[in-house]
Amino acid sequence: MTEATTTAGHIPPILLIGCGRMGSAMLAGWREQGLAPSVAVDPSPAAAAFAGPDLAVVAGPEAIAPDFVPAAVVLAVKPQNAAETLPAYARFTGGSVFLSIMAGRTIGGIARLLGPDAAIVRAMPNTPAAIRQGVTVACPGQGVGTPQRALCDRLLHAIGTVAWVEDEAFLDPVTAVSGSGPAYVFLLAELMEQAALEQGLPPALARLLARQTVAGSGALLAASAEDAAALRKAVTSPGGTTAAALSVMMKSDAWPLTVSEAIAAATRRSRELAG
Ligand SMILES: NC(=O)c1ccc[n+]([C@@H]2O[C@H](COP(=O)([O-])OP(=O)(O)OC[C@H]3O[C@@H](n4cnc5c(N)ncnc54)[C@H](OP(=O)(O)O)[C@@H]3O)[C@@H](O)[C@H]2O)c1
Repeated sequence: MTEATTTAGHIPPILLIGCGRMGSAMLAGWREQGLAPSVAVDPSPAAAAFAGPDLAVVAGPEAIAPDFVPAAVVLAVKPQNAAETLPAYARFTGGSVFLSIMAGRTIGGIARLLGPDAAIVRAMPNTPAAIRQGVTVACPGQGVGTPQRALCDRLLHAIGTVAWVEDEAFLDPVTAVSGSGPAYVFLLAELMEQAALEQGLPPALARLLARQTVAGSGALLAASAEDAAALRKAVTSPGGTTAAALSVMMKSDAWPLTVSEAIAAATRRSRELAG
């Protein structure tokens, strides 16, 4: 098998299948590093806007030039489109690594569509990828070589931080924590806004305070070497306002139980949906 290679400062030819929100976010990051002539397949008329000197956008696999040899085939279609979409790309098995960001599609399930010899990396990004602040967990399938793994790592770094696991079973709790996690944080902003209204603040101010407090606290956490508990304790004076709020939130049957049960439910659902 010929393994893909990559050098710093240059992204080798990529075949991107699906140029929607996540596919186009990755593409933007690759372009910043310099993308070798690549191809995106997407039947959506909106995808044509991504065409350029470094990228041909085609509507289907039959329009890919026969002599195009991608270093990686990036699978960024919706999971429900996998069965109808993937078999047409089985011909790239052997020379290219397949990098899937499809939620819930297992390495085994993808291999059933591409063939047993396909080198597959399964990854779970999250939605802050849109501003390159995502976190992605990647898992290599059998037969993925070191240069192929390094290439996938570079491709995923285009949308944020990357961590690798060797055990694919971890991707269910990963999905529950980071894949679904942005929704939990957005819910916190929603609830804080509602509570601010209940306390009599005008709507525009309630919205500003809730959004900017969540966003600013996330940025502070990202910039700090301290863990979240230490940052929380640093802003909690004994007997003060923060302590009054936390005494409600931190009751054992309040946030600790709710968050634990929520992430357990999402992990179970991820296992149920896997295929
Ligand atoms: N967005 C996230 O936060 C997130 C997080 C984790 C994982 N993911 C995964 O990332 C993948 C992409 O998600 P997304 O949010 O980017 O979805 P999206 O915006 O809907 O993008 C998917 C794109 O694929 C196109 N498409 C449909 N059928 C195709 C085919 N046969 N060949 C090539 N392209 C085709 C769609 O076109 P049409 O619109 O015309 O159908 C659309 O442009 C999904 O598998 C999802 O599970 C996304």
